[in-house]
Amino acid sequence: MKYACLKSIASYVPKRCVKNSEFEKTLDTTDEWIQKRTGIQTRYFASDEENTSDLGFQAAKLALDRSGLQASDIDLVIVATLSPDYLNMPSTACLISAKLGIRNKPAFDISTACSGFIYLLSLAKAFIESNTYNNILIIGAEKVSSVLDFTDRGTCVLFGDGAGAAVITPTTDKNHSILDVHISADGAYNDFLFTPRVTKKSEFIQGQSIPQCIQMKGNETFKLGVKTLISDVEEILQKNEILPSQVDFFIPHQANLRIISAVGEQLKFSSEQVVITVQKYGNTSAASIPMAMNDVYESGRLKSGNLILLDAFGGGVTWGSALLYFGG
Ligand code: UT7
Repeated sequence: MKYACLKSIASYVPKRCVKNSEFEKTLDTTDEWIQKRTGIQTRYFASDEENTSDLGFQAAKLALDRSGLQASDIDLVIVATLSPDYLNMPSTACLISAKLGIRNKPAFDISTACSGFIYLLSLAKAFIESNTYNNILIIGAEKVSSVLDFTDRGTCVLFGDGAGAAVITPTTDKNHSILDVHISADGAYNDFLFTPRVTKKSEFIQGQSIPQCIQMKGNETFKLGVKTLISDVEEILQKNEILPSQVDFFIPHQANLRIISAVGEQLKFSSEQVVITVQKYGNTSAASIPMAMNDVYESGRLKSGNLILLDAFGGGVTWGSALLYFGG
């Protein structure tokens, strides 16, 4: 039996670290409010010269090195992002492929917001198990700062930039495989999180300029996210007959410490099991899960064969969870 294996993980964090206190200078907000309501202390913003594809390239290059494969071994590149370099084309996956020297291989982007990395895992697993492709490079990369309204205190303090990448390869060893991935969406909640597109016709509504930036119904998203994530995580554990105590690392999407705590407490995970990086990086959308996984990896705690549980919730709305044995 052929399984898909998460062979390597890597991330890239841009240089500029932005503390909460920077927002106090321009907005009616405080470090205390941000930390208390979100857990966030800092986030990193890319420079004007760095685009999403540059961040993704750095993470992808390191993931390739760690996998032991060459760029020429990669059969498919898929990127999840809500902040692509270009509006419609070329895709960020094409740009990263070019930077890596990968030619004549398929490359495309997906648009599933913060659930992006789990959707990528689902695609990679399906492509490998159906014998369509062998070695797949998946990348969650975001320059969220490029789509933030820095006058909106309800969103701009929450997000950060960064990228995470993984190489997915075939294996016959179930104990090093991606066991199960669950993805879902409900477009009825499309107005909870969205980025309006400014066109000539829609640029002004009743004299108001519509910023081409993330808008969010924060509190509604919070409540729906907690409810959805708890039931989704319970379902994937039950379906695979795995107890929370058997999971080595629970790596949730890093949107808000209160969401992570609510899900973690409901599932009775210990603090050693739950991976939290939101305090450092903020919400890096599709990059948040692979960045968090890389932090555990680089800390030396993540060992080959460890069982990892992932969950995410984001704009669309989309959500998903995954159970995998680390294959590195
Ligand atoms: O990654 C994709 C999924 N995203 C999420 O899951 C994010 C989900 N949402 C959240 O994390 C939280 O809802 C927020 C952190 C965005 C907001 O926290 P909240 O506890 O839900 O606050 P709220 O939206 O109910 O706002 C409470 C108050 C409001 O003031 P009034 O109306 O009570 O006077 C806000 O205007 O807090 C105010 N507020 C702020 N105050 C200081 C909102 N943002 C700020 C801020 N600083 N930055």
